Amino acid sequence: MDFNQSADENLFDRARIIGKPHTRIDGALKVTGTAPYAYERNDVVENHLVGYPLGASIAKGRITRMDASAARNAEGVAAVITALDIDELPRADSNVAKLFGGDIVEHYHQAIAVVVADTLEQARAATSLIEVEYEEMPGEFDLDDAWKRLQDRDVINEVGDVDAAFERAEVSIDETYHTASQSHAMMEPHASIADWCDGKHLTLWTSNQMIAWSKKALATTLELDEANIRLESPYIGGGFGGKLWLRADAVLAALGSRETGRPVKVALPRPLIFNNATHRSGTVQRLRIAANRDGRITAFDHSAISHTLPGGSGEDAVNQTRCFYAGENRRVAHHAIDMNLPEAADMRAPGEASGLAVLEIAMDEMAEKLGLDPVEFRILNDTQVNPEEPEKRFSDRHFVECLQKGAEAFGWSERNRTPGGRREGQWLIGQGMAGAYRGSPTLDSGARVSLNQGRLVVETDMTDIGTGSYTIIAQTAAETMGVELEDVEVRLGNSAYPKASGSGGQMGAASATAGVYAACLALQAEIGKRLGVDNARFEQGRVRAEGIDTPLAEVAGGDEIVGEDTLHFGDFKDKLEIGTFGAHFVEVAVHAYTGETRLRRTLSVCDAGRILNPVTARSQVIGGMTMAIGAALSESLSIDTARGFFPNHDLAGYEIAVHADIPEQEVIFLDTQDGASTPLKAKGVGELGICGGAAAVANAMYNATGIRLRDYPLTLDRMLDQLPAI
Ligand code: MOS
Repeated sequence: MDFNQSADENLFDRARIIGKPHTRIDGALKVTGTAPYAYERNDVVENHLVGYPLGASIAKGRITRMDASAARNAEGVAAVITALDIDELPRADSNVAKLFGGDIVEHYHQAIAVVVADTLEQARAATSLIEVEYEEMPGEFDLDDAWKRLQDRDVINEVGDVDAAFERAEVSIDETYHTASQSHAMMEPHASIADWCDGKHLTLWTSNQMIAWSKKALATTLELDEANIRLESPYIGGGFGGKLWLRADAVLAALGSRETGRPVKVALPRPLIFNNATHRSGTVQRLRIAANRDGRITAFDHSAISHTLPGGSGEDAVNQTRCFYAGENRRVAHHAIDMNLPEAADMRAPGEASGLAVLEIAMDEMAEKLGLDPVEFRILNDTQVNPEEPEKRFSDRHFVECLQKGAEAFGWSERNRTPGGRREGQWLIGQGMAGAYRGSPTLDSGARVSLNQGRLVVETDMTDIGTGSYTIIAQTAAETMGVELEDVEVRLGNSAYPKASGSGGQMGAASATAGVYAACLALQAEIGKRLGVDNARFEQGRVRAEGIDTPLAEVAGGDEIVGEDTLHFGDFKDKLEIGTFGAHFVEVAVHAYTGETRLRRTLSVCDAGRILNPVTARSQVIGGMTMAIGAALSESLSIDTARGFFPNHDLAGYEIAVHADIPEQEVIFLDTQDGASTPLKAKGVGELGICGGAAAVANAMYNATGIRLRDYPLTLDRMLDQLPAI
């Protein structure tokens, strides 16, 4: 089915099931521990072995010698495969760092061996018996050094005359900011069970956001025919972008299975994940904003650097600055610096999460300099067109409404306007806000829907990474087919099913539900054919047409009727700017003596198209906002700039925000409908919550203390010398 023009009024507008607050249909499985995750699939394999990886202990160089004889002789060990035993495996397009094989070390904790044994303990113990010698080479590990050295940053785009605009600016700022490198820190580690016993057919039970990409990557890496690979990933304990790619767990499990002739399971141990897998690059950003005295922005000049291994693309922190606010003159520049730290790649809202963390502090600074309320300043500079290409309109943008609704619901007008001016005992109280923006792309998505005795089964290779895909897909099928939610069974995350968008770039909900809609229409056409009608209505569990009023359960007799289709998104969307918008409001308390910061409450208002399910969507927004709070206050991969690795590579040293850190979070959805996005008029919401949230915290801390912090995370040591004296 082609989606070639904006959706008009359609069946989803009746919102019988779509848009209703259904709890997760997989919720019971999750909370009873019976949803099988990759590492737990003992039900599907027999007689499996366990693999344990060894990571390199240098950042750059080559392995000169490996002796695995003691490990091979250790109790319970079935096989040891070292990097020197095999040639470097071919790299898939989506993998920057190599995954295994050969003597070259490209980053710290790159996998250099796997021990396969009867038990995890035996495998783990034996890895410590492997002797490794290296020739270490100097590498580049310091982003600040690179920032200082770098003269020309790649200009991505320039509109108008930016330099002239700054020369005649009545008010301007020019500041430099840092965001930290971050880890996805998902609960479920990267884990796989591989069955590649005949070396020809590979079955992989894994934890991955993108089934089709990973199948392709496996085919390239292991030089297999895609037709001989099957991937299953029905339940995923979080990904946040860290599981978009094929990683070492899958490859090592496959190699171990081929070597031993038995299924092998490998989970990346938590202390290995931070350096072995991908992370979000830190950034250095310089941002200049110019405005007239009346508050209208005349110019933006935003440049940023991030790091990458050679061949990667870094964290594009300037992206949102191109189109979020009005302003005639604008320049953005981004440079991804080749460095020798582990592989930097996508993490929830790649680019915008770091870029808005900075842009939205700068907007607060500008508002203050102009003597304007930060909400008013943003309203004043709203735009309904992409300011770089004014002929390109936003399909549907209600940012101003987000700001106004948020201000009202939060009680913004009552806030203390004097930084450092509100104190309760030993605590300084502050309120801050920030705008949120994230694009809302879609990817072609397919599904298969079968009708059997009145029950529907939906199959698609779409994944549910904890987001609620199962539920919104069931809602879509139930709505389209006129049945109840309980009549629909959803099967996801299997490469045997039709290819969908996968979970990434906040594309999944909008894309996959559109694919399921297309498949349901195909099923309706099949049913119509059987009944000899082409205008049947599907409602209340029945098929109705002239002279026909039959329960769906009886249409097929004892047969199964199947519909399958893919929703193809048309080019007309390229002429529009399709985005999601929001506003975050935050109240903090900062301890006047220690600088300890505590969140008191947060409110996020979102304009993200039709909200398919307010329960699961809300969970996405508060989850994103929680990550933003972590990014603001604590999350940072420290960098050992001498040896080139992240030393805080576990969940004791890498601190994420948890329940106790955040007492109250509210979300308001505008529940707009964007017909240009999908037939359901839905957009993404999975990444919007993390966008801008960190800056809202920073701005609230400024309001509390009068101390302007520009380097994340906003830890107390950065404030101590400026806090009010006792
Ligand atoms: Mo997202 S960073 O595309 O999973």
